[in-house]
Amino acid sequence: PRMSVLTVSVVLVGLYAVCRCMIPWLVQSNSTLALLWYDFVLEMTLDLLTRTTRPQRLLRAVIINAVRGDPDSVIRAIDHFCKHTEWAMNIGDEKGAILDSVVMETSPSTVLELGTYCGYSAVRITRLLPPSTRLITVEMNPDYACVIICSELSSTKMRLICPTWSLRRSGSGG
Ligand SMILES: C[S@@+](CC[C@H](N)C(=O)[O-])C[C@H]1O[C@@H](n2cnc3c(N)ncnc32)[C@H](O)[C@@H]1O
Repeated sequence: PRMSVLTVSVVLVGLYAVCRCMIPWLVQSNSTLALLWYDFVLEMTLDLLTRTTRPQRLLRAVIINAVRGDPDSVIRAIDHFCKHTEWAMNIGDEKGAILDSVVMETSPSTVLELGTYCGYSAVRITRLLPPSTRLITVEMNPDYACVIICSELSSTKMRLICPTWSLRRSGSGG
């Protein structure tokens, strides 16, 4: 029995090393393989094992690590989660910095964002808007939109629209 415990431990450590180091290293030069690994195999496995979705896990990291009312801490928490825990389809910190400068240079009176996902870019944009400016953000996936509402990431400067909810309510499909 001692031998089999050792064998199981070695196999588990090996599997962990393959998933954590080898595969990420192998897929980094091929975007299709990377998507397949991060967005399909890893996401489905973690969803099954934890019985949560990636947006729920991401928002959990925000709730634990960010400070309520501090958008910069929300951004830091999401960036940290995506760098060290799981990949997610946010704009990220590098392109996010470009987005910040565009928002500051153009001083928009209204911003329309198509594709909210978990609200990373929405929080990023909203924190730079003057009090009178609004961000309208549209998300077709009610599971993502729901996470924004439940996590209280939205603010008075942000309006979230999820057309799928209206379609479902009116019974016209969706
Ligand atoms: C790349 S993600 C957006 C990332 C987000 N802007 C961020 O940086 O945090 C794209 C999002 O667009 C949404 N989407 C795709 N097609 C859409 C459509 N026709 N209407 C509304 N949302 C859509 C997807 O569900 C997904 O959440």
